[in-house]
Amino acid sequence: MNLFEIKGLYKCYNTKAKPKVYAVHDLHLTVKKGEILGLVGESGCGKSTLGKMLLKLEQPTRGRIIFNQQDITDYSFSQMRKIRNRMQMIFQGNANAFNPYFTVEQIISEPLNNYSYETPAAKREKIVAMLEQVGLNQTYLNRYGHEMSGGQRQRVGIARALILQPEFAVCDEAVSSIDYALKNQILTLLTGLKQQLGLTYLFISHDIAAVNRICDRVVVMYLGNIVEIIPNINDQAQHPYTKALLAATLVPDPRKREKSRVLFKEAEELKIPEKGCVFQNRCLYAQAVCKAEQPALVSKDSEHYIACHLCHPH
Ligand SMILES: Nc1ncnc2c1ncn2[C@@H]1O[C@H](COP(=O)(O)OP(=O)(O)O)[C@@H](O)[C@H]1O
Ligand SMILES: [Mg+2]
Repeated sequence: MNLFEIKGLYKCYNTKAKPKVYAVHDLHLTVKKGEILGLVGESGCGKSTLGKMLLKLEQPTRGRIIFNQQDITDYSFSQMRKIRNRMQMIFQGNANAFNPYFTVEQIISEPLNNYSYETPAAKREKIVAMLEQVGLNQTYLNRYGHEMSGGQRQRVGIARALILQPEFAVCDEAVSSIDYALKNQILTLLTGLKQQLGLTYLFISHDIAAVNRICDRVVVMYLGNIVEIIPNINDQAQHPYTKALLAATLVPDPRKREKSRVLFKEAEELKIPEKGCVFQNRCLYAQAVCKAEQPALVSKDSEHYIACHLCHPH
């Protein structure tokens, strides 16, 4: 079962500085119910824009978004209100993630106040139960953001996102600025909650190790385009960009690191080329065909898709 079907999605930002930027470009993708779908790529490749469009926090320029078999692309604010509680965003738990004048109880109550009409006692009971699910307890109810560690704030952010029992959460760089031990705790928490609450995640991160640890499939984006969809990014990467991304992250085993070392060229201009492959200007292997024709995202085997002429010899 698919939770999302994304068809030909575009997002174009018109700004004064840069006339036309396609943050997301003709993107086709499904998100299956119950999966953790990773989304990786360099900063600026359109990951957050895609996440926000799925939650309808950004309106697509073109294309369709189907959520649970409903086309929500043109839903109005009030139509979205009815389903907004079913999808949430989990942000980084940094110091300014929350209103500094709010206690933990107020922070986690906010979504409840917008969506349910329970008594204060019932709400508090729910909040305490949620705090316990994220590894905190009721002694945190009256604390403020600055009175907690990064890990505790992260847990509060997760509690806030999950208090309405959504089906889907976008984790946008949720573990990117925290140390290794804490990262592992939060990843374990996120996967545990996914199981308990029957969630589906879009897990956005530039941390390939984290993505590899928890994701069922990984989408690799380059300049607004999907270049590869891959069940296991470490073992199966084939697109030259995915390989380069992997080589750029620290592989603990030096022999593997040497073997996987593939670099890309310096970007002259980070702009989607008029024709041909989106990665042609930085690819070390680009051939004439790569400059002439855009490679389709083609299935290599059932779950593995690659958009590269050289990975699919003609
Ligand atoms: N609100 C906006 N206005 C104009 N350009 C934007 C806006 N948001 C993002 N962009 C541009 O869209 C592209 C993708 O951004 P983003 O989705 O934030 O990438 P990522 O999350 O992968 O770092 C970038 O070029 C960025 O500058
Ligand atoms: Mg981002």
